[in-house]
Amino acid sequence: MTLQDLNSPHGGTLKELSVVPQRRRSHAVHWELTPRQYADLEMIAIGAYSPLETFMGKSNYFSVIESMHLIDGTLWPIPIVFQFRSEQIEPSAKYLELTHDLEQVATLEIGEIFKLDLELEASRIYGTTSEDHPGVKLLYSGGDGAITGTLSIHATILGYDGPEYLTPAQTRKAFGERKWKSVAAFQTRNPVHRAHEYLHKIALEVVDGLFLNPLVGQTKSDDVPVPTRMAAYSVLLDRYYPSDRTLLGVYPAAMRYAGPKEAILHAISRKNYGCTHFIVGRDHAGVGNYYSTYAAQEIFDTIVPGELDIHILKFEHSFYCTVCRQVASKRTCPHGPELHVSLSGTKVRELLTNGEDLPPEFSRPEVAEVLRRAYQS
Ligand code: ADX
Repeated sequence: MTLQDLNSPHGGTLKELSVVPQRRRSHAVHWELTPRQYADLEMIAIGAYSPLETFMGKSNYFSVIESMHLIDGTLWPIPIVFQFRSEQIEPSAKYLELTHDLEQVATLEIGEIFKLDLELEASRIYGTTSEDHPGVKLLYSGGDGAITGTLSIHATILGYDGPEYLTPAQTRKAFGERKWKSVAAFQTRNPVHRAHEYLHKIALEVVDGLFLNPLVGQTKSDDVPVPTRMAAYSVLLDRYYPSDRTLLGVYPAAMRYAGPKEAILHAISRKNYGCTHFIVGRDHAGVGNYYSTYAAQEIFDTIVPGELDIHILKFEHSFYCTVCRQVASKRTCPHGPELHVSLSGTKVRELLTNGEDLPPEFSRPEVAEVLRRAYQS
């Protein structure tokens, strides 16, 4: 890849699954997809998890855990498996009819059933076996069985219904139409704040286009809901972003909170959307104190050149400085932390829940108003 071109998909080809008609099968059992399974299925179907075309089998599962690569040598950081508890599926089943809200969206022809090593996965992928970690908790609750096989998709899978829904094929087209040669992607699961905006604007100084790509799949229950986050983006984009250089499109994946490993997964999928750059700030995809502030940046230094091919734009912790009277980081601001305004996600939620206003140094008033109204109702 040269940075003059839009980025090629991970593994070389965008693996979108086409929609095919449903067929009547014997030995088929119904399976109502969990939110995580639905999000993973959607990511596979739209090509955002290229080169995956189905859930991983045993050899890829252990290869990813042990070596961060698929068995064919492609870089891949996190297992994407169809997890189940053995008592949930009768042994004679040959097909799983995958439903969402009881409507069949796909069929999985069972090719291989295998046992997961949940503790090994937790320690290697999440860096902890503690159930206090939301990703590990979900992993442990899903059962230690996994199924792979051929996937057929029967309906467009849409975890988000709105004009901001764009598949990787659609973003590639949109970037091309705008004649963007370089595009920086921004992953986020939180309401947009001034430090986020600072990262966006710095990126816009060096690339042609900014792809704002908020995650709308499953998050932990206390994260701010999707409609509120999207409404906040809408008021902000209307007033403060150049519309010809910014594109907002949702990212349907579920959040795993796996810090560094998830940062790589995020970068791979944004490469599939055609982006040439990916923003990684402080504690990317982190939760609690499980990862050091810059672990999600440092992991990219361990990747062999040529294996990922997306520029990582690394940002230091940014804050509002009351003396500089602007957002800055310690690379640009000489003042001490007592002069800085910076709030954790937990603190933000606490203020909102108590009906208090977010400080204008942290959040633009338009965004604060959207959040205040959402929390009041
Ligand atoms: S995340 O789970 O999606 O990483 P969040 O939406 O808070 O959470 O962050 C989105 C991106 O902005 C991540 O790359 C994160 O590292 C970065 N980021 C968030 N807040 C800051 C900040 N104050 N300073 C620098 N980077 C930040």
